[in-house]
Amino acid sequence: MSTELKNEIENETKNRRTFAIISHPDAGKTTLTEKLLLFGGAIQMAGMVKARGERRRARSDWMKVEQERGISVASSVMTFIHEGVTYNLLDTPGHEDFSEDTYRTLTAVDSAIMVLDCAKGIETQTLKLFEVCRLRDIPVLTFINKMDRDGQDPFSLLEEIESKLALDVTPASWPIGMGRDFKGCYDLLRDDLLLFDRGKGDHLAEGGIDCTGLDDAKLADHLPDFQLEKLREDAEMVRGLCPAFDRQSYLEGHMSPVFFGSAINNFGVRELLRGLHDFAPSPRPQKAVQRDVNPEESKVTGFIFKIQANMDPKHRDRIAFTRICSGNFRKGMKLKHVRTGKALTIHTPHLFLAQSREEAEEAWPGDIIGIGTHGGLRIGDTLSESEDLSFTGLPNFAPELMQRVRSEDPLRAKHLGRALEQLAEEGAARVFKPVMHADWVVGVVGSLQFDVLADRIRTEFSIPVKFEPASLYTARWISCDDAAKLKTFTDGNQSALAYDHDGDPVFLARNAWHLSDAEEKFPAIRFAATK
Ligand code: G4P
Repeated sequence: MSTELKNEIENETKNRRTFAIISHPDAGKTTLTEKLLLFGGAIQMAGMVKARGERRRARSDWMKVEQERGISVASSVMTFIHEGVTYNLLDTPGHEDFSEDTYRTLTAVDSAIMVLDCAKGIETQTLKLFEVCRLRDIPVLTFINKMDRDGQDPFSLLEEIESKLALDVTPASWPIGMGRDFKGCYDLLRDDLLLFDRGKGDHLAEGGIDCTGLDDAKLADHLPDFQLEKLREDAEMVRGLCPAFDRQSYLEGHMSPVFFGSAINNFGVRELLRGLHDFAPSPRPQKAVQRDVNPEESKVTGFIFKIQANMDPKHRDRIAFTRICSGNFRKGMKLKHVRTGKALTIHTPHLFLAQSREEAEEAWPGDIIGIGTHGGLRIGDTLSESEDLSFTGLPNFAPELMQRVRSEDPLRAKHLGRALEQLAEEGAARVFKPVMHADWVVGVVGSLQFDVLADRIRTEFSIPVKFEPASLYTARWISCDDAAKLKTFTDGNQSALAYDHDGDPVFLARNAWHLSDAEEKFPAIRFAATK
């Protein structure tokens, strides 16, 4: 590789941050996203405001999902550039029935921002998502939101994060007052006083007032005595209670710097972005079965972490979201689809510059490109310029809810199989064809997924479908080193046997006993919860 290209890849990699925001619904993820995009100058406020208005009108969960689906392709990946650094923000679906999608998206980021509502602290979904970050050693910055409203005492919030997440915390800023009395924050890392200005939501906040420290006489010009005194006391106490910020510990996922703010008022967002700039890691090496792949390598590699149907239901094409792991991707490039060995020329990739799908000329490690596909590409697939690599780490989930599905129009019945196969390839569901039963069985992780599937099969494939309870407990992929033993098992269990969309055999258990009984009677057979 030329030294020039090598330097360029190194440089572009260094100047990239690929991250996601994790939070419990309603903590302020959407609002924070908008404000971050504002810094990149990449947002049309009007468009966003409209989407929010519609969202407000959405009453049921189902409508929310439908609406989210409508805007989700465009907002799945948002890229913005601020002070020479390219930020790729990967959106994660809000509803917990779609957490599978979220988990996969987290495999494609290098760091995360955890947003908490100051009144609610750590909530169930925050905890779950944080655990995924921990499993993958993803460093987390914390943003405590809604400081313009009354919430919990900041000390108890820090303690809650520390104890519930078993994570060291250190405040990057400290709030002065709260709710009606919220005056702003003191930036403990830079010694700046940040004054809160209500209603500056659509404007970029001014920088802070530079101080020499908490003893600076200037502080008294801006804060009433009692608040200044409290700030000094709090700061002293917090410095005694919390460890000092240690970047290495943050990078290893052991420590989270905590920022306080109010996203809706665009307060504290600049400091958070600066935290992302100064502390968050640039694209990291990615693990493949064969070896670790460094971003600076000259050959392009990437993996698909999400497949999404087009917003327009009349178009059957789908987008495979691919994270570039190494090299300098250029439009028109030929990459090998490692699973099938086929070459794939990527003529019209998409880069996701906030709100509009812009065609990418080139992309660098950490960037996400969207590749149009009519099928063939699957979640977890690796694309590679030369070497046969398989990236690892994409989680697979055991289907926990199972239903049978049938076409209400017998004439369309034979198309149903194809529709289901496509949805299975997208990762939207697990699909099984029972040997002894005419109806397909669909397995999902969250029940709302059934509604979305039914709606998509109706609108995208014009097949009226009906989902019905299957009285099935779970599915297990079966395999055995001894083909004869596998055959004995499958012959004896035809009524519980099905095949998935790859043609691999699956055991459909009626209940927990049915499964454990089979496992006991056939110790040579492996019953895998995921593939
Ligand atoms: P989410 O994506 O995490 O679900 O949260 P979202 O941003 O939609 O915010 C949830 C609610 O919290 C919204 O109110 C939003 O306006 C509000 N919010 C966000 N940040 C702040 C903040 O800093 N302070 C205060 N006081 N509120 C905040 P909503 O009434 O549900 O929606 P909307 O009518 O405002 O759109």
